[in-house]
Amino acid sequence: MQAFLRGHPTTHFFCLRLTDRSHDVGSAHVELQRPFLKWAGGKTKLVPAIGAVVPLTATRLVEPFVGSGAVALNLGLPTSLLADTNADLIAVYQRLRDAPEAFIAECHDLFSAEANSAAVYYQRREEFNATTDPARRASLFVYLNRHGYNGLCRYNARGGFNVPFGRYAAPYFPRAEMLTFHVLLQRCTLLHADFRAVLAQAGAGDFVYCDPPYVPASATANFTAYARTAFGPQEQSDLAACCHAARQRGAIVALSNHDTPETRALYAGADECHELLVRRQISCHGANRTQARELLVVYRPAA
Ligand SMILES: C[S@@+](CC[C@H](N)C(=O)[O-])C[C@H]1O[C@@H](n2cnc3c(N)ncnc32)[C@H](O)[C@@H]1O
Repeated sequence: MQAFLRGHPTTHFFCLRLTDRSHDVGSAHVELQRPFLKWAGGKTKLVPAIGAVVPLTATRLVEPFVGSGAVALNLGLPTSLLADTNADLIAVYQRLRDAPEAFIAECHDLFSAEANSAAVYYQRREEFNATTDPARRASLFVYLNRHGYNGLCRYNARGGFNVPFGRYAAPYFPRAEMLTFHVLLQRCTLLHADFRAVLAQAGAGDFVYCDPPYVPASATANFTAYARTAFGPQEQSDLAACCHAARQRGAIVALSNHDTPETRALYAGADECHELLVRRQISCHGANRTQARELLVVYRPAA
């Protein structure tokens, strides 16, 4: 797939009209792999646009905000450094990498018609928050991800997972997707770390893709709240500085964010700025969709 997706875009404006799983590139029909976890801001649909800016010389993917791993899964670079500050997420990937059969069986045991009820969900959510057994916590995380509201991952101030029950007809057990991800993990290094520590490791030969929590799409009421979030203006500006520094060390860096005056100012020093029109699902039942303007900025070191 990489051969189809690589190559520089001829235009600076992509309009993405993709189905969930596939994309036509020239005469080739490329099937996109789906991650086994649902994740807010998952980037499966942006893979063709991201793949188009990956240089043929890149030998390692560095993803400081890996989330569900949709990008790593589909770019197919020889090795990857995958990182995130979500400790549960990284623990799940470690378990899937090291004990695939046992882990998939443990997760599968949690999926049944009886287990798809609010009562079982809340009991397991309580168990997840109380257990000190890492293997049990990892399998419960996969259950909660598929049975919780909209695949959200949210914790309260005490660190307790607090997403409500999702009320899906029959949650899908992603066995095939877990096996595919296990294969990917064999050539990955996993890191539970902040983006600053991860980007500091990027240099020549690396393609870095950053998919941070986005700045608010518009300067409305949520802007004040945004300044107080764990990923506020200070983090956005540190991230822009880290991208620039990684480029100075020879890495090629791509980054997604909303298309706002703030992000355009932060990334004014980037070498390319691609505008993307992305279809968004705004309710968990797929009926409500909207389009959002995003930027894909690229830093390329001087040849
Ligand atoms: C938009 S999601 C990434 C989605 C991913 N590209 C995908 O396709 O699923 C942003 C991710 O950044 C992580 N994150 C938030 N703050 C972070 C930080 N300071 N350093 C590293 N990761 C962070 C979150 O846990 C989340 O997984």
